Amino acid sequence: MRDFEEFLQANLPKAPSFHPHYEKALGEMLLAGGKRFRPALLIAAAVGIDPAAHRAAFAPALAIEMLHTYSLIHDDLPAMDNADFRRSHPTLHKTYDYVTAILVGDALNTHAFSVLAHADLSSAVRADLVAVLADNGGANAMVLGQALDCHFEGVKLTIAQLEFIHIHKTAKMIAASLKMGAIVAGADSGLQDRLYDLGLDLGLFFQIRDDIIDATGDEAAAGKPTHNDTAKNSYTNLLGVDGATDRLYSLGEKIKHSIADLPHRLPIALGEVLKEYLD
Ligand code: IPE
Ligand code: IPE
Ligand code: MG
Ligand code: MG
Ligand code: MG
Repeated sequence: MRDFEEFLQANLPKAPSFHPHYEKALGEMLLAGGKRFRPALLIAAAVGIDPAAHRAAFAPALAIEMLHTYSLIHDDLPAMDNADFRRSHPTLHKTYDYVTAILVGDALNTHAFSVLAHADLSSAVRADLVAVLADNGGANAMVLGQALDCHFEGVKLTIAQLEFIHIHKTAKMIAASLKMGAIVAGADSGLQDRLYDLGLDLGLFFQIRDDIIDATGDEAAAGKPTHNDTAKNSYTNLLGVDGATDRLYSLGEKIKHSIADLPHRLPIALGEVLKEYLD
């Protein structure tokens, strides 16, 4: 992932002007780091199908990380989850102001699609990538999940409703990462769909794990406030830490089996990214 980090640094959005901090703020949360889970999955899916697709996967990986980072900047605003730090770095609304955080989020959202539109890929592949990112990061996916998550704070939902929220706010973006990697590598639609479905399970796993980190984790290790979701519908609030951990374990077993059955070098490439989560 070192090459990807260099690519990211070289391709931060640029907006020179007489604004005192806007351009710095645009790149700040991207440069603060994070696990780069979605880029790593996208690149691993591409390389696991066709090793020659490594470099071509960088622009789509950057695009999904930009859209994800926008979602975090807005998620942390006081009107949503109200968090003061993220990726072990003060949130933009703390360092600057609400206007900056809102507008940097807006800019990263749009810029993600600019990165895809200008990527050195065939026009058919670019169009497919734009559709997958928009369909999974937008109105009927991540944004819908976030709307439900925030609207139903303080109202206890059913597990099926909670799962709907987690699939939409988190799992669809993770499924999109795998599918975008498959598209870059020229996989047929059958393999794209298989990876997408695996990504939905993996994304649900990832958000349940994140709920457990919120309930039991330490802020310094998480790089963000924990014990912040007490009024939310979360797996730990609805099932308890033990119930959430059981669900995490059974989903993890299902994911391991699905990965082992994948063709090409996908089991090795994805296994490497996921070993710290699934072992
Ligand atoms: C945080 O995503 C939001 C969730 C969907 C749980 P990550 O846990 O991937 O955050 P970063 O990118 O590592 O900061
Ligand atoms: C956020 O879920 C999912 C997004 C779409 C950003 P959380 O609110 O649980 O993410 P964290 O815990 O703040 O990273
Ligand atoms: Mg949230
Ligand atoms: Mg949050
Ligand atoms: Mg969380």
